[in-house]
Amino acid sequence: MELPEDHPGFSDPDYRARRAAIARTGAEYRSGDPIPDVHYTPEEDNVWRVVSHELARKHQIYACRAYLAGAAALTLPTERVPQLREVDERVHALGRFHIEPVPGLVPTRVFYGSLARRTFLSTQYIRHHSVPFYTPEPDIVHEIIGHANMLANPVFADLYEEAGKASLRATTDGALDFFSKLFWFTLEFGVLHEDGELKAYGAGLLSSYGEIEVFRDAEIRPWDIVRMGTLDYDITRYQPVLFAAESFDRMVDELTAFFAAYDDDAHARWIGEG
Ligand SMILES: [Fe+2]
Repeated sequence: MELPEDHPGFSDPDYRARRAAIARTGAEYRSGDPIPDVHYTPEEDNVWRVVSHELARKHQIYACRAYLAGAAALTLPTERVPQLREVDERVHALGRFHIEPVPGLVPTRVFYGSLARRTFLSTQYIRHHSVPFYTPEPDIVHEIIGHANMLANPVFADLYEEAGKASLRATTDGALDFFSKLFWFTLEFGVLHEDGELKAYGAGLLSSYGEIEVFRDAEIRPWDIVRMGTLDYDITRYQPVLFAAESFDRMVDELTAFFAAYDDDAHARWIGEG
């Protein structure tokens, strides 16, 4: 397991060994197998406890209702890192979506393509204990508090499946790039108007302890599919530009219609080449 030099766990050999051991569980997993448990350490459980308590408090202020409904139904444990096995069982019962372990970042097409079979590929390791409120990469906090809480709501779960199917029809690199950027500015960092306030519905915002409190300070642009699908972003900093949907229902309708009709030709039309 290679970590970049600026990773919080780079100079901690114990953390690196832990990461490697947890990654092996994901690497050995085959779809359809029972998901093996990871025996998290008290230190890892403590990271989860600290982050999940703080995020739950902030969700009450900043999360949209549909996300809060998913989280309330899923009722993740707050005192220990949840096992993917139990999250998978409950997300499947609520949103008919499966969670499967992977060792780390997977290729973009594999990650999005799995959504088409209503399966979300999740890492199992947790961020370094020295900086519980920061991770430079998706960890189990992001995957489960961000995405699994969404997938416990069937409306979001259906949207993820449509996104996955759209990604499979985006066979050119350009079409997939447009799709990935749109996914980023919606299901990862999307915001919407609700009850006169700006609320977050994207998993990246909803799992970010710091960014969730400041996203309203970003430049908020109106919903615009072409601009979302063509704007470059930097994953290492708070997003300076976000796109707001007029409402939750409008977001669902517009994204569903977009994904359902998306393929290489649609991409060409969206960027004005068709
Ligand atoms: Fe994500």
